[in-house]
Amino acid sequence: MSNTVFVTRREHFNAAHKLWNPKWDAETNAKVFGKCANPNWHGHNYTLFVTVKGEPDADTGYCIDLKFLSDLIEERVLSLLDHKNLNIDVDFLQGKLTSAENVAIAIWHRLADAVKNEQRELYCVKLYETENNIVEYFG
Ligand code: NI
Repeated sequence: MSNTVFVTRREHFNAAHKLWNPKWDAETNAKVFGKCANPNWHGHNYTLFVTVKGEPDADTGYCIDLKFLSDLIEERVLSLLDHKNLNIDVDFLQGKLTSAENVAIAIWHRLADAVKNEQRELYCVKLYETENNIVEYFG
């Protein structure tokens, strides 16, 4: 029997974006991306779940201190995304289509190294773009 546990922190951020492939004309973008290609942007209320996999520490009983994880997400992700335009304002999304898929992958890379130590690692970044549209990334 292992002591492996999965610890999750939920966070929220609001951001604007549009899905737009610069290789295509406006008509093709509208056809592929629908409302998400609206030229003057639109917003989402994103919900982010960050899950860490590991074992409880002998001294604290924690796999990861959730205050530490929350602070890390704030510093490395939320402070850069919340109330921003994902296409324009965010260095680590420059040149990417700001789909929930690509945003989830980018968030993973913002957090993975900082979370990892000898007893734990990042397991999953799950991003709700809406209540019904959800992306998970496992690295
Ligand atoms: Ni959208």
